[in-house]
Amino acid sequence: MTEHVLRAIDKGVMTVTLNRADKKNALTEAMYAALGDALEAAAKDASVKVVLFTGSGDSFTAGNDLGDFAAAGSKPVDANEGERPVGRFLRLIATAEKPLIAAVNGLAVGVGVTMLLHCDLVYAAQSASFQTPFVNLGLVPEAGSTLLMPSLVGNQKAAELFLLGKKIGAEKAERIGLVADVLPDAELLARTTAIAQELAAKAPTAVKLTKQLLRGASRPDVAKRMSEEGAHFAAQLRSAEVKEAISAFFEKRAPDFSKAS
Ligand code: COA
Repeated sequence: MTEHVLRAIDKGVMTVTLNRADKKNALTEAMYAALGDALEAAAKDASVKVVLFTGSGDSFTAGNDLGDFAAAGSKPVDANEGERPVGRFLRLIATAEKPLIAAVNGLAVGVGVTMLLHCDLVYAAQSASFQTPFVNLGLVPEAGSTLLMPSLVGNQKAAELFLLGKKIGAEKAERIGLVADVLPDAELLARTTAIAQELAAKAPTAVKLTKQLLRGASRPDVAKRMSEEGAHFAAQLRSAEVKEAISAFFEKRAPDFSKAS
């Protein structure tokens, strides 16, 4: 357990807070491991009926830690490496039986957006923003999002988000169906927690079956798409495109892909 992921249980709701505010809650390997542990603990604990994700400070999460991406991309491929923490986290959110709710308190980038596609209810603060700059980084989207996003928002909006890496605000996210509702910043956590507690008090089997029915049909496709995305993602991580994009980020300059392919 890292101090960068906090857990608290109250009235049937496990609140999981991304807590690395000085780095915009960017997710490290240790944080993915802690998120996976939290989801496994929630699945096993009969007192937990709902899991609620949120972030500390002004961000939900700036996505994967780019330093970790750079380190992963410079390691040789290890065919014997087991499931990595990020893969375990994505598998667990994609297969969770208990409802997952997100309170998006600020910027959500990369996996901070794609993980929302696995949440049953997403509430956004008025100041929240959403961006999936995978292509800008020389990467491809993950978490089954190339399947789930177009089916949620349509091909055109998905292409704006994924090909152009366009950033959108909370109102637009609600309009295109990415979030259930937009709430005033100061009320987001209290109101989302109240909704989570309301859900936690409902008949658990009926909730579980309804979640399954709402999401169930596309699950085998999602698992298959996640592994296709994962193969491209792993290959791209080692590419000159990603190297250039990540160097540019840390050197605070625009990337130049003209020599990177
Ligand atoms: N990985 C590692 N560090 C990150 C990070 C990330 N994904 N996102 C932000 N940080 C760090 C910054 O390096 C900075 O650290 P420093 O204070 O030691 O310099 C700190 O968090 C604050 O970020 P900063 O860029 O100064 O804040 P900002 O408000 O100007 O911009 C973002 C915020 C999120 C728009 C910008 O940081 C960004 O684009 N981050 C990368 C997001 C990304 O590409 N994620 C991967 C998606 S697949």
